[in-house]
Amino acid sequence: MKDKFIETFRKQVTRRGSEKLLEWLESTDFFTAPASTRFHAAYEGGLVEHSLNVYEVLIAKHFDVDKDDLESFTIVSLLHDICKAGFYITEYRNKKNEYGEWEKVPYYTVDDKFPYGHGEKSVFLIERFMKLKFEEAVAIRWHMGGFDDSARAGSFAIANAYEKYPLAVKLHLADLEATYLHENRSEG
Ligand SMILES: [Fe+2]
Ligand SMILES: [Fe+2]
Repeated sequence: MKDKFIETFRKQVTRRGSEKLLEWLESTDFFTAPASTRFHAAYEGGLVEHSLNVYEVLIAKHFDVDKDDLESFTIVSLLHDICKAGFYITEYRNKKNEYGEWEKVPYYTVDDKFPYGHGEKSVFLIERFMKLKFEEAVAIRWHMGGFDDSARAGSFAIANAYEKYPLAVKLHLADLEATYLHENRSEG
């Protein structure tokens, strides 16, 4: 999965700073982190797998070869959740095994080292290395759709974003589909 991510990214993203961004990603736990603590792809490597799933859905369902920019579609899908690098840690709890003996069992929990939000944090982290187009930044910022904290608190900015930038709608749809239709949702 890691190889596939890097290969796709290198081939399709050639913008200045992209190599530095990749280098930084490799220095984090991005390629081993889960995609969530228990809701979807909650296992080692789940995050990179989820990012590739979103990329596949976005390209398969929403990419128009004649009109759309492959670099933009690759950036927003592969990088939308990089805010989850350095976000999860493994802890242990005691659980009885099949022989009735207590055992230490690992589980994921959140330890956000840089609490800057979700979509907004991904945008910030990317921008430290590589410039985003407005459309890309907006798409990543609002990829959570109605699950976004400020959207839930009543912000209308998301409606303006979706009206102005179709890519933002497409990324949210691809994220939803990958998460709810293609990924393992049972507790790991
Ligand atoms: Fe997300
Ligand atoms: Fe996601």
